[in-house]
Amino acid sequence: MRANPSVVAPFDKVYRFYDAYMHIFGFYREKLIARLLNLQGTESVVDLGGGTGYLSSYLSGMCGELFLIDESRGMLSEVKKSDSINIFKRDVLDTGFSDRRFDIAILSDLVHHVEDQEGLLMECSRILRPDGRVLIYDFDIGYLRTKMSRWFEERLFGKVYFRRRVEVENMLKSLGFSRIDGIARGYWYIIIWRKREAR
Ligand SMILES: C[S@@+](CC[C@H](N)C(=O)[O-])C[C@H]1O[C@@H](n2cnc3c(N)ncnc32)[C@H](O)[C@@H]1O
Repeated sequence: MRANPSVVAPFDKVYRFYDAYMHIFGFYREKLIARLLNLQGTESVVDLGGGTGYLSSYLSGMCGELFLIDESRGMLSEVKKSDSINIFKRDVLDTGFSDRRFDIAILSDLVHHVEDQEGLLMECSRILRPDGRVLIYDFDIGYLRTKMSRWFEERLFGKVYFRRRVEVENMLKSLGFSRIDGIARGYWYIIIWRKREAR
């Protein structure tokens, strides 16, 4: 279902202080994400739930084209308009992009905000070309730090759905992705998985 333009998204209430919150807690990992992606300047990249565009702005000069989609009008209003980022207000579960449109899908700090995570990964798989990559940056609920974040985030952003990293990886595996890279630093992790090649 497409995001209803009249509905106020959870992040519409917090967008003004979101970037400050991310910087204070040191949650942005743009340099590490760029290094792991090793962009060659030609890739089609989509930043799903890209929010205020902090990561997209960092990556925009490093790839061929960059699309950012988010359901929150407030978050999108913070994206720097000078950057060459194609911005769409849409639901990540129904992006409206054609099949096999992108080389890379980024889910940075998104997965635990989406209840239907399998639906999200299926949509990723649909819009990625065979051999395309999905990068996920998220937090493992097996750690006390993440449990504390859950308490905090539910008060700030509404219901959240943190999982164990292995649960997310099992979903990717069952959709035919294979692991190519990743790091786990205690409670947070960044993983890159590749979509199965066309047969
Ligand atoms: C924690 S923020 C992460 C923003 C950015 N990716 C980052 O790394 O800072 C989660 C974002 O996902 C968006 N989001 C959550 N569920 C969504 C959905 N179903 N469709 C589109 N955007 C969604 C929120 O509006 C919010 O901007």
